[in-house]
Amino acid sequence: MRTVEQILRHSGELQQARSLADLMRTTGEAVQAMTRYHSAWIAWFDPDRVDEVRVLAASGAVEATVWETSPVVPRGTDAMVEEIAAGGRVIVVEDARTDPRTNKEMVARFGNRTIVNVPIILRGSVRGMLGTGSFGDEGVVVPTPQELESLAIFASQLAPAFDRVHALAAQAKAEAAQLTLHRHLESLQRVELMGVLAAGVAHDLNNLLSVAMSSLASIDRRPLGDDAEALADATTALERMGDISKQLLLLGRERAGPHRPLDLNDKVASTLALVRPSIPRSISVVHARGATPMVEGDPVQLEQAVANLVINARDAVGKQGRIELSVDEQLLDEVSAGRMSGGRPGRFARLRVSDDGPGIPAELQRRVFDPLFTTKPLGTGLGLAVVSRVVEQHKGFVSVHSVPGHGATFELYLPALQ
Ligand SMILES: Nc1ncnc2c1ncn2[C@@H]1O[C@H](COP(=O)(O)OP(=O)(O)OP(=O)(O)O)[C@@H](O)[C@H]1O
Ligand SMILES: [Mg+2]
Repeated sequence: MRTVEQILRHSGELQQARSLADLMRTTGEAVQAMTRYHSAWIAWFDPDRVDEVRVLAASGAVEATVWETSPVVPRGTDAMVEEIAAGGRVIVVEDARTDPRTNKEMVARFGNRTIVNVPIILRGSVRGMLGTGSFGDEGVVVPTPQELESLAIFASQLAPAFDRVHALAAQAKAEAAQLTLHRHLESLQRVELMGVLAAGVAHDLNNLLSVAMSSLASIDRRPLGDDAEALADATTALERMGDISKQLLLLGRERAGPHRPLDLNDKVASTLALVRPSIPRSISVVHARGATPMVEGDPVQLEQAVANLVINARDAVGKQGRIELSVDEQLLDEVSAGRMSGGRPGRFARLRVSDDGPGIPAELQRRVFDPLFTTKPLGTGLGLAVVSRVVEQHKGFVSVHSVPGHGATFELYLPALQ
């Protein structure tokens, strides 16, 4: 009578279980209450891994050993496990040290003596087993018929509880995945919003900067000595602020200027005329003019993109080196376009900017286009973000190739004008 009450109580607890840990705790308590054994474990047959059995949880003396040693038991080596999986009947091994069905290595590792394995059967198939038994100094403890019956009844209650916990875990996993997706979308919206804000602020900053610049320029007394230096510093700082706000303006979805047909070679030439003065003479800058199709674009944005690539190349090569710009036509088929991230087939005008600097480590190559990613002490990390933004607005794409130690090459692909 007492046993029936116990089983009913444990069965009630099993139905409350929400996790594998809950199940194991209840199972450990139930086994202790119904038998003379002090340890219990639950093993599971994964249908995708027929050659092993996974010990999912354990309680009592074996708990620590089970997790310290591998909880995955190879099935082929263990006749006892095979027997239970195939037959679905309770198996009693009176003494694991001498019984020919046990895996002697496992027995030595865990110190098993008597082993009782009860199959966990769900919808007609053996899904796992509830194990218990004696260890080491406890010696051989042969189960009584009543102990075996209690264990069998308990195992039949365990099966549906296990199924439910499994479903709960799957549901929790799905919910977590959905939450991650939701957070990702939220952060995308924030980035979008930041772009709009940045563009607004940059717009006002630009106006104020031009006022400050023209005020400085209109000082009619020629400054001398320290004053001249201070004035030059102030002008440089204002110019840098101007550069940054121009980048911010482009990053925010500020409407692109009017697009018109243009030759990329001309854009390269006009950009180089602008930035060449800021590149040391010891760095050679070469422009290889190739025959290219016309593209349609915003001349100001494209100039900014080319300038950002050239300035990055300058920063990379340091004191001495070579920067090469070349423009040509590229016909991409599905295969070659598929090799480039964001690539698509078609006819393109391609601009390559190569340098012989240190290159970019493989793990950073994907991150260099992220806004605010920089490895420079005074960098803003906006340059390449602007490049990809501009290229995107021109329905093109950009790729980077670099073998560290052998420089870097950035390629802009812009759709050819029909
Ligand atoms: N040609 C290059 N060779 C090596 N590394 C490069 C090259 N171009 C870009 N990088 C790397 O990519 C990072 C991001 O470049 P990006 O132009 O976006 O920002 P930045 O140059 O650091 O700052 P800013 O352009 O605002 O001055 C750089 O800090 C650098 O680490
Ligand atoms: Mg840069």
